Amino acid sequence: MLSNQKTQIRNMHSIRPRRLRLSPQVRAMVRETQLAPDDFIYPLFVAHGHGLKHEIASMPGVFQWSADNLAPEVESIARLGIPAVILFGLPESKDAIGLENFAPDGVIQQAIRAIKAAVPEMVVITDVCLCEYTDHGHCGLLNTGSDRPHPHLPEGYVLNDETLDVLAQVAVSHAEAGADLVAPSGMMDGMVAAIRAGLDAAGFEMTPILSYAIKYASGFYGPFREAAQGAPKFGDRKTHQMDPANAREALREAALDVAEGADMLMVKPALPYLDIIRQTRDQFPELPLAAYNVSGEYAMVKAAALNGWVDEERVVMELLTGIKRAGADLIITYHAKEAARWLQQ
Ligand code: PBG
Repeated sequence: MLSNQKTQIRNMHSIRPRRLRLSPQVRAMVRETQLAPDDFIYPLFVAHGHGLKHEIASMPGVFQWSADNLAPEVESIARLGIPAVILFGLPESKDAIGLENFAPDGVIQQAIRAIKAAVPEMVVITDVCLCEYTDHGHCGLLNTGSDRPHPHLPEGYVLNDETLDVLAQVAVSHAEAGADLVAPSGMMDGMVAAIRAGLDAAGFEMTPILSYAIKYASGFYGPFREAAQGAPKFGDRKTHQMDPANAREALREAALDVAEGADMLMVKPALPYLDIIRQTRDQFPELPLAAYNVSGEYAMVKAAALNGWVDEERVVMELLTGIKRAGADLIITYHAKEAARWLQQ
């Protein structure tokens, strides 16, 4: 090659992205997305009993706790700089309505009080749904029996408007116990409006609603259903949760919840739906957006890491960064404590 040809090629390469990758310091200066412990919300499973700390087989490192054991756990979550927890409860017994869901001494109500007594500044978010409390494991009241309320709807159909009244009662009960935010996850039409009206009527007009606005009918909830014992006894959730194939419909769901008064939106699961997170962020820039990095996503990473097939810290930080880069302000994740620890190093 002639020397003037070499000079020409070098000139063509005067733009060199690698210049900004030369040192860790410069790489840090130009980093576009920063993760921090205060991006995270940590899920906690609470069960009845005393001294309980039971590891969930499909979710290594995640436990079911009894309320009396929560104080030290929540103190350590706070020390890691994680500002919020989201609670899921396992009731003593289940029935068709899920009565413990709104009982003043229900498992969640006890847990809220225990957490607030131990760490008053911890933001307590509660999941508002029926599936962990009903004996049939569905997210609402069922159309069932010979005298069923809607003879033209199928046997076992999850009733919408009848369920809304229960959801509003549950949200009020959580607020009375001291919850800071309520998060309806049942994908009933009108759930945000019903809960808003219920909270306002009970004097909780300042309690925000974080709506699971865009929740897909996903296989990635598998381990959660072991953790929270909320698997449906028959059928599935496809008549209320969204079809994974749909994106435009997600924007419709979000728009409805915004109109009904949702204060924050959520997309769930996170990793197969990064495009939905991005579109929701762009379409509704005025609302905080959360993404739920769900149990199956966690279990896959843990299983591979325990086998030595991936470097856990690297892949967890990469996927959490990806969720934030896609547009989530907040990430609900079972990795929160470990990720916060890695960020503090
Ligand atoms: C419903 C609820 C579910 C999850 C959160 N809230 C289960 C479902 O819809 O079947 C799943 C969370 C996870 O998989 O981590 N109460």
